[in-house]
Amino acid sequence: MCHYCGCRQMPLVRDYIAEHERATNLGGDAVRAIDVGDFEKARRCTAQMAVELASHWRGEENGLFRVMEREPEYAEHISPLVLEHRQLAELLATVDVADSDDQEWIRVAVIDLHEHIRKEEDGLFPASLTALSGADWDASMAAWHEAHPGEDLISD
Ligand SMILES: [Fe+2]
Ligand SMILES: [Fe+2]
Repeated sequence: MCHYCGCRQMPLVRDYIAEHERATNLGGDAVRAIDVGDFEKARRCTAQMAVELASHWRGEENGLFRVMEREPEYAEHISPLVLEHRQLAELLATVDVADSDDQEWIRVAVIDLHEHIRKEEDGLFPASLTALSGADWDASMAAWHEAHPGEDLISD
């Protein structure tokens, strides 16, 4: 985790990171529920994870990603991240937590999600601090609000 560049103090990035934490916690809860055969709980957790990630991805893709991908240097890192969003969305939409193959997919997906998040938190987010102009931050912030109607960013 990047704790040095200051991006964690940045509103918006701080919210993205909190959203990551909620999603990975739900993923961990889902896997633990599967491990003990509590499929009802596993279903609840994967459903909540899908909802959490849908708004998270909407905010990222229509905001920070969109302004950063104007630079070819960042665009090449962003398109694989977006593809990973789509793949996990597809899995969460179709998963049957009682099916042993799907259970394995979920385990792998939760591990992959941690890696995906690492690429954002250690790569893209720190880079955004120097890459984005004031107008870019405004556009990124607007996309977050559009993806989280009626919600506020984390306040100090
Ligand atoms: Fe992402
Ligand atoms: Fe993310």
